[in-house]
Amino acid sequence: MCGIVGYVGRKEATPLLIEGLRRLEYRGYDSAGICVLTNGTLHVRKQVGRVEGLAQSLKTKPVKGSLGISHTRWATHGLPSDINSHPHLDQSGKVALVHNGIIENYTTLRHRLQRLGHRFLSQTDTEVLAHLIGHHLDQALARKGEVTPERVTQAIFAATREVEGTYAIALMHQGLPGHLFGARRGSPLVVGLGQDENFLASDVSPIVAHTRKVVYLHDGDIVTLTNKDFALQARGKAIQRPISSVDWSAEEAERGKHPHYMLKEIFEQPGRVAEVLRRTLRPAKGNVEFEEMALKPKELAKINRLILVGCGTSWHAALVGEYVIETLARLPVEVEYGSEMRYRGRPIEKNTLIVSISQSGETADTLAAIRAAKAQGARTLGIVNVVGSTIARESDADIYMRAGPEIGVASTKAFEMQVLQLTLLGIALARQRGELSPAAGRKLVRELQTIPGKIEKILAGDAHLRKISKKYHQATGFLYMGRQFNFPVALEGALKLKEISYIHAEGYPSAEMKHGPIALIAPDFPSVFVVPRDAMYDKNMSNVEEIRARKGPIIAVATEGDAEIKHKASDVIYIPQTLDILQPLLTVVPLQLLAYHIAVLRGCDVDKPRNLAKSVTVE
Ligand code: M6R
Repeated sequence: MCGIVGYVGRKEATPLLIEGLRRLEYRGYDSAGICVLTNGTLHVRKQVGRVEGLAQSLKTKPVKGSLGISHTRWATHGLPSDINSHPHLDQSGKVALVHNGIIENYTTLRHRLQRLGHRFLSQTDTEVLAHLIGHHLDQALARKGEVTPERVTQAIFAATREVEGTYAIALMHQGLPGHLFGARRGSPLVVGLGQDENFLASDVSPIVAHTRKVVYLHDGDIVTLTNKDFALQARGKAIQRPISSVDWSAEEAERGKHPHYMLKEIFEQPGRVAEVLRRTLRPAKGNVEFEEMALKPKELAKINRLILVGCGTSWHAALVGEYVIETLARLPVEVEYGSEMRYRGRPIEKNTLIVSISQSGETADTLAAIRAAKAQGARTLGIVNVVGSTIARESDADIYMRAGPEIGVASTKAFEMQVLQLTLLGIALARQRGELSPAAGRKLVRELQTIPGKIEKILAGDAHLRKISKKYHQATGFLYMGRQFNFPVALEGALKLKEISYIHAEGYPSAEMKHGPIALIAPDFPSVFVVPRDAMYDKNMSNVEEIRARKGPIIAVATEGDAEIKHKASDVIYIPQTLDILQPLLTVVPLQLLAYHIAVLRGCDVDKPRNLAKSVTVE
């Protein structure tokens, strides 16, 4: 949700900032802007629209200098417009600021500053923050004269103490050509440490092209960067944070030969799954061993309930986890939306493990839910993709998803890896609790090892999916259905379609259809039915018949060799046979491709769907 890049070094800042914004654009793309310091003057260029538009404007009217900040916006306060775009300046015009987050008390602060004579140009909360920092700095300078890095840091500290809400900021001052400043609370910010240059960014993706050495800032941190060094402080005192190394390269975040990131990421799934299985499975023992998880076997043994928490796609993966873990480990599992759990004050019983599921590791609602649980003394496990993210840091233990960078706003490989890791967790808990014998564990592990090949096979049918998509891409609504392990897959299929094609779609457990959604069935209203040869097959087939009786077109996701379904469905997508419990790892893949092709056929911007942002760091 909004991307920030800052640079201090010896090179031209503009191309680096623009390239960085391109890599962060998935975080928001309503407008973009940069500020570069040239010979003691702040040059701001900002405009509504994509980063590409800004890049073009900068070609005709370039700005030169080796200190700069930049921003790609997902609007919260104020419409997307040139004036509301970041950077914003303070009253003096000497402080420039970009911001990710929400200043909740901005109206009060704005009125207070207006009474002191401040004039605001935009409707944003960010401009208020810029003015507030400027105000504190002006007060200090009125007492002591010249601007120094220490005085800027003190002004940031003083201003942020008055602020309610969340922020990650990058800031520069006209009088300090070699200094870049940053601060965070509730929104992510990372420092990149290069050779004679340093960076600030919302995540590592704009940094990895230059350096893999990074420092993840914590809430309350304020950082001062020069091209040679960085200094951190929290609560007014100097502090140290560890330097981490990013374990993926810039190339991994490239689109390569694929027309969209989403397609690239769908096709990456077999490789990513195979890699995690290779690292985690212990085939001879019929068990799994996680690389990072810090929960001791003794602690795991005590757990008698799991609460899985997430948002959006991650919540759907949690639902799959509920079915899988309850089946394998015979442990009660509940699934919560982060946004609901955070305010419910639900009691958390002793020996309950809170498992948060998040690709970004920064989703505000999920984070708040686990903080609320921790405040009650609960132990937490994070299943996250982004190493060093806030959820990863704040959880007592982590399982890294190892999906690699996911750039497409619509989550695909992240869902696959979340489901995989939850399945592996289910196996670990089941073995621990004696619910899965070594022999049954070995059988399950053997079947898991066939999953990457089976996904490859589904992907090889991409042309068939494109053909089906052509037939249905003009439909105005879709119903997605599945049962048991495949009910959450139906939800996920519907979410994928609506978020990237803007076609309304709903997911339901198949048997619920006759309690309402059946009213939608008509010859021009397609249903996507996940109906593999599993324990629910006959029940599902009765629902298929009910749709047929009402002349509704059916796109079936069925198991290879199922001849019967061919006579019942309008179109069939075959997937290889696997255990019921592992079905979601396969059945979701054709639904991702279906959504992708339909969206492309409708001319939608697949990787950057309207109104969305990849990482939702505000409430
Ligand atoms: O980073 P997270 O996994 O916590 O994100 C949660 C949701 O915002 C995310 O899954 C969202 O629903 C995706 N756009 C779905 O494709």
